Amino acid sequence: MIMNLKKLLLIACSVFLVVSLSKAQDYEYIGAAKCKMCHNKEAKGKQYDTWKSKLHAKAYETLASEESKKFSDDPQNDPKCLKCHSTYHAASEDLMLTITAKEGVSCESCHGPGSKYKSMSVMKDQQKSLDNGLILPVEAVCVTCHNEESPTYKEFNYEEAVAKIAHPNPLTQ
Ligand code: HEC
Ligand code: HEC
Ligand code: HEC
Ligand code: HEC
Repeated sequence: MIMNLKKLLLIACSVFLVVSLSKAQDYEYIGAAKCKMCHNKEAKGKQYDTWKSKLHAKAYETLASEESKKFSDDPQNDPKCLKCHSTYHAASEDLMLTITAKEGVSCESCHGPGSKYKSMSVMKDQQKSLDNGLILPVEAVCVTCHNEESPTYKEFNYEEAVAKIAHPNPLTQ
């Protein structure tokens, strides 16, 4: 009887552990405006402005173009298009905090949802950031979207592509 109770307690504890661990993995999307607060300083390379000036930031707008209408009746509301043309639609609704589809392919599509790594104490420590969901993207991240499922697919050359979207921090290079 006592053994059984112990066993039951053990099971209850491990269920609790699994539930809380998986909760810790539920990083939420916070949106590019939050990253901008710390990542738009001239001396550190203005990552936000650089991103904003390129096509990833316009990926949602692109879905309003005449060309887009060739592939869908209502591209800006079509999950089939939005899944690659916006960060918002990459995850389930309950993982969204302050992000909208309008920001297109934004920071968190490549760097991972930021709810847990966004604080200064975490961010200034690379290992802590990685432990809290930060991704330093490699080619595998890009080809989740740059692939033949795209109706306008163009061959993807990682070296060239990554140079086109570069937003280095001169102080950490
Ligand atoms: C409270 C300020 C703050 C916020 C908010 C913030 N960061 Fe950071 N981040 C930093 C600091 C500080 C560093 C360390 C390098 C530096 O000094 O710029 C850093 C480093 C990084 C790095 C480089 C990591 C490395 O080790 O190479 C990436 C990538 C990054 N942040 C992405 C983001 C993204 C994406 C967001 C939004 C989801 C974000 N950050 C929000 C302060 C912040
Ligand atoms: C969430 C999907 C997604 C991910 C992840 C993604 N891209 Fe893109 N990328 C797009 C879409 C959509 C466009 C087209 C945007 C448009 O024309 O409106 C694009 C366009 C581009 C372009 C051409 C536009 C320009 O600004 O010159 C380059 C280069 C590019 N991506 C590089 C990359 C690289 C490198 C990575 C990985 C580090 C990457 N992309 C990750 C969806 C993605
Ligand atoms: C299309 C994918 C993509 C998007 C969108 C993107 N990044 Fe990055 N980012 C990268 C890649 C690739 C690197 C280089 C990683 C490396 O050096 O290992 C990088 C590097 C960085 C670094 C480190 C720079 C350095 O030299 O230390 C910071 C900080 C950063 N990104 C912040 C941001 C912020 C903030 C946004 C949104 C405003 C953003 N990124 C949007 C792909 C992306
Ligand atoms: C698998 C990811 C993916 C899906 C799904 C996707 N796109 Fe894209 N889209 C991209 C990427 C990546 C680019 C950049 C050019 C390329 O390689 O296709 C792009 C570029 C575009 C462009 C610009 C074309 C150009 O000349 O650069 C248009 C327009 C477009 N997409 C419309 C759509 C529409 C409409 C849908 C839905 C029916 C859709 N896309 C679905 C990834 C995707």
